[in-house]
Amino acid sequence: MPRTSHPPLYLALADNVERLIASGTLRPGDRVPSVRRMSRQHKVSPPTVVQAYLALENRGIIEARPRSGFYVRAQPIDPLKLPTFSNRKPLARSLAKFPPLMAMVSDLGNPELVPLGGANPSGDLLPARKLARISATVSRLNPKAVINYDPAPGCARLREELSRRSLEWGCYLQSDQFLITNGATEALHLALHAVARPGDTVLVESPTYYGLLSLLSFLHLNVIAIPSHAQTGIDLDAVESALELQRVAAMIVVPNFSNPLGSLMPEENRRRLIALAAGRGVPIIEDDIYGDLSHEGDRPRAMKALDADGSVILCGSFSKTLAPGYRIGYLAAGPYQDQLAQAKMALNFGGAPLPALTVAEFLRNGGYGHHLRTLRHTFRDQVSRMREAIAAAFPGEVKISAPLGGFVLWVELPRGVDALRLFYLARDAGISIAPGHLFAPSAEFKNFIRISCGHPWSPRIEAAVSTLGKLLERSRK
Ligand SMILES: Cc1ncc(COP(=O)(O)O)c(C=O)c1O
Repeated sequence: MPRTSHPPLYLALADNVERLIASGTLRPGDRVPSVRRMSRQHKVSPPTVVQAYLALENRGIIEARPRSGFYVRAQPIDPLKLPTFSNRKPLARSLAKFPPLMAMVSDLGNPELVPLGGANPSGDLLPARKLARISATVSRLNPKAVINYDPAPGCARLREELSRRSLEWGCYLQSDQFLITNGATEALHLALHAVARPGDTVLVESPTYYGLLSLLSFLHLNVIAIPSHAQTGIDLDAVESALELQRVAAMIVVPNFSNPLGSLMPEENRRRLIALAAGRGVPIIEDDIYGDLSHEGDRPRAMKALDADGSVILCGSFSKTLAPGYRIGYLAAGPYQDQLAQAKMALNFGGAPLPALTVAEFLRNGGYGHHLRTLRHTFRDQVSRMREAIAAAFPGEVKISAPLGGFVLWVELPRGVDALRLFYLARDAGISIAPGHLFAPSAEFKNFIRISCGHPWSPRIEAAVSTLGKLLERSRK
């Protein structure tokens, strides 16, 4: 039987404060009552109030100001509409026909094209030189270690750094709870290996990252694509109905700044999803690859932070923040840890020591926090400029996601526009974009594109956006 529970006290408190804000009693810029006052007034403990305020911060309603307290956020009036929420019935689908589209994916990273396609951060924004210096030093100081095999679970120093960082994710994981992997992709692969067999069905967000669909297809898994909201992520009622109708081996979610929507799952949705999954014994695979890239405020916690009984398997990597080419990812597999350490050993031992030690050293002494601050703000600015440029250049009604983190935009084009046609026209004009067809197992996102904002704003990018606007009319069916 599914577990049901009353909403925790802090959520009731958060909802009350949200109502005060919605009714205008508390207005943008107002300070919300201090934790002490709130705790006295409502006869709850100060940590409960703090939890309530953190939930409101996660919802984007209030913000913490250092040494001053919590304030109601100014809600900018955004004239742009969000992309439409998919209303497809979530049915199990085979991915047997998915791979042919993957031929397009190689174009997404083509350096000849204006890079609006691949979700790759520009090398200009990553600490390439610093990493190169660290790598040289690490090699010089540990010449034998870096040329030797490293057995699974992989680089101990990196696992220690991950353990330290996990405090920021709200998880408190020990170094022996991590496996170092070949990017998040291998972490997802191993996690799926632990919980699903060919022919099984896995729940995913819709739209979702095409690399994930490609991996599921490779593993002969079927998917149920669950409609997802541009702001709050996977629709929980749809998850609940799908779980009632069908046996599901796992669900995969990107609660922090999903790709392509950029959605941020509210804390209460995370709790409900965990309860739904735990009630049916379905493991959740959490991909937290964008978690470090919130545009404002603190990093959102990982969903794993709320996992009391080990049903969340956490995957992540440094591909979006440091060095995609180093292929450094990680997995905290809970009950599957030993089994997956063996699987990893059978596949490729513990991974290459040099990039792992280099990332470990960067995390420890390289100023990762400082680098992240700059990167997050740069992405925020690039995303905001791109939204404005698209709104100005694209004719007809265009709807654009409004991510609070990461660096991709999900754009709904006017009905009748064929994103695949636009993809080819754009490529002929020297521009790369990602057509919506790649982001779901069915053809439901034919008039959507994903635009990456991973490269510094430039006249070349501005001109490419205006060219895309002109090509839209020619892309109608
Ligand atoms: C949601 C998501 N997961 C995983 C990956 C792949 O990560 P990695 O390069 O670390 O294998 C990506 C890359 O775009 C992604 O967007």
